[in-house]
Amino acid sequence: MLHFLIWLAWLFLVYIHPKEYCLPSHRPQRLLGPCTLISQRLGSVFFLSLSLLIAKLLFDELRPDHHQRVVKLLNHLSYIEDLPASFLSSVSQDLMAESWNHCYRCVGIYNDEIICYGVALFELKARGGRCCHIEDIVVDPSYQRLGVGRQLIKHLVQIAESFSCYKVQLVTGPNTIPFYESCGFAVNGVEMRLLNSKYNSTQLAQPLSA
Ligand SMILES: CC(C)(COP(=O)(O)OP(=O)(O)OC[C@H]1O[C@@H](n2cnc3c(N)ncnc32)[C@H](O)[C@@H]1OP(=O)(O)O)[C@@H](O)C(=O)NCCC(=O)NCCS
Repeated sequence: MLHFLIWLAWLFLVYIHPKEYCLPSHRPQRLLGPCTLISQRLGSVFFLSLSLLIAKLLFDELRPDHHQRVVKLLNHLSYIEDLPASFLSSVSQDLMAESWNHCYRCVGIYNDEIICYGVALFELKARGGRCCHIEDIVVDPSYQRLGVGRQLIKHLVQIAESFSCYKVQLVTGPNTIPFYESCGFAVNGVEMRLLNSKYNSTQLAQPLSA
């Protein structure tokens, strides 16, 4: 029902009240030929259908058979050269051995394909209570700006709530502040880090069992 209403609202914005609300690419232009107009309309319909289908995104815990795809996806967050298969399988074993109480690695699956990934870490505080840290949020570029990232964050926040976390926090760069603000987060403090100079980017991912 909600989707139908969104669809009606979109039709209103695109066809009836185009001047004020539509994106420039959706505004009717007098000099456009019929083919361009039709392709614009089809583009809108395609975009809409995709957004509606995205609602069927399923979330699941990371499994060994997801691992390779997730490693590829993470290259859209920070790039690491191709890692050897034996190394990855060792990392995979370490990941699977980690307790759910500490960490939830989440894949978002759409049409049998993993299109997003994110991690929630649960920290038990010395004075009681639990805090959730969100890490490694990434959406496949061909599915970005369709609400997938927001659904992923919403899901992780719900998991944090089910673990009775009193807060959820994360570190991000200036470009993604609007995204997290749209998910209800607010800027708080600054990030500081100390990188261990002994490790390069690939070594940083050394598995515990190595
Ligand atoms: C950041 C990222 C996760 C957002 O995922 P997404 O699925 O594209 O985001 P959504 O479609 O759910 O966006 C929700 C809202 O966030 C805001 N937003 C998302 N991406 C934005 C961007 N690049 N610039 C400004 N606002 C943005 C918008 O308000 C958007 O709503 P709108 O499209 O209706 O305007 C995705 O772009 C990504 O994977 N980037 C590369 C990896 C990365 O930077 N991860 C974050 C690490 S901390």
